[in-house]
Amino acid sequence: MNISAPTPVKTIAVIGAGTMGSGIALTAAQAGIAAFQVDLSAAQLEKAKAYHLKTLARAVEKGKLQQADADAAAKRISYVATMAEAKSADWAVEAATENVEIKKKIFKEMAATFPAHAVLATNTSSISITDLASAVGADAHRVIGMHFFNPVPIMALVEVIKGLATSDETTQRTIALSIAMGKTPVPANDRAGFVSNRVLMPMINEAFYACMEGVAKPEDIDQIMKLGCNFPMGPLRLADFIGLDVCHDIMMVLYRELGDQKFFPCPMLRQLVQAGRLGDKSGRGVFDYAKK
Ligand code: CAA
Repeated sequence: MNISAPTPVKTIAVIGAGTMGSGIALTAAQAGIAAFQVDLSAAQLEKAKAYHLKTLARAVEKGKLQQADADAAAKRISYVATMAEAKSADWAVEAATENVEIKKKIFKEMAATFPAHAVLATNTSSISITDLASAVGADAHRVIGMHFFNPVPIMALVEVIKGLATSDETTQRTIALSIAMGKTPVPANDRAGFVSNRVLMPMINEAFYACMEGVAKPEDIDQIMKLGCNFPMGPLRLADFIGLDVCHDIMMVLYRELGDQKFFPCPMLRQLVQAGRLGDKSGRGVFDYAKK
């Protein structure tokens, strides 16, 4: 394996301006990397920009960032509707909705748009990297999983997942970029849910079973796990934070791909999703945020 220092990334294109995409763009910009935030939805881009400015302003208020550095970081982010406007980027990270067909379509466009040296990364939380890479044929060697965690500016990890065809050079460059963005890259193999969600989601699912069976009240389940296991958030609060639909979809990927009944989503989780109670983003999930 060639482990000579990879060329530093100057410009990154982040496809998707949702929670994860906007966090990735901000983290890149704060690390001195120019970022294109790409999203067809003008409303989503506005929301991402508001999040960027608010987060930077808060860091300045707290004395953690100089105003000039905050201004420079904000200036590094360009908000664009199409990949074509971001085509000069030498790195692309897809952070779109967790749907394999949508992601494959995006990957085809990424391979056709960005230069041949650009890595084509995905922030998928559970979909097979090898499957996504199959959409881009001979470009599969530059496809890799670069899995960030929410909130991206705070969480230390990038889970790095090689697909079957991912080259060593792509992997080395992903490790180098993760470090340049202030993160700790840790490798995991291309199995459903990788490591993070293979372990986290069944734990969350089990918390729903405990709640459904009345083992304890939801707030007490969370309190027990916070105080007893030192979790920053209890598993039910964390599920609301991640999105109950996301938790449900990841469990379904684990269930389908690993073929074990133990991964089937808890009926209580399924019912809340069916009712549109998706957590923080809908104002109500396990807990009711409208009251606060
Ligand atoms: N963006 C940027 N910064 C944020 C933020 C956000 N969305 N949310 C919180 N912060 C910052 C705050 O500004 C604060 O910064 P300072 O220390 O500089 O003051 C710091 O984070 C702590 O925030 P708070 O004091 O408001 O709250 P807290 O101490 O309760 O921490 C938390 C909030 C960091 C979210 C913490 O509760 C936590 O770590 N929770 C667990 C999060 C987790 O497990 N994430 C992984 C989810 S799984 C996933 O993402 C992958 C997947 O595939 C599903």
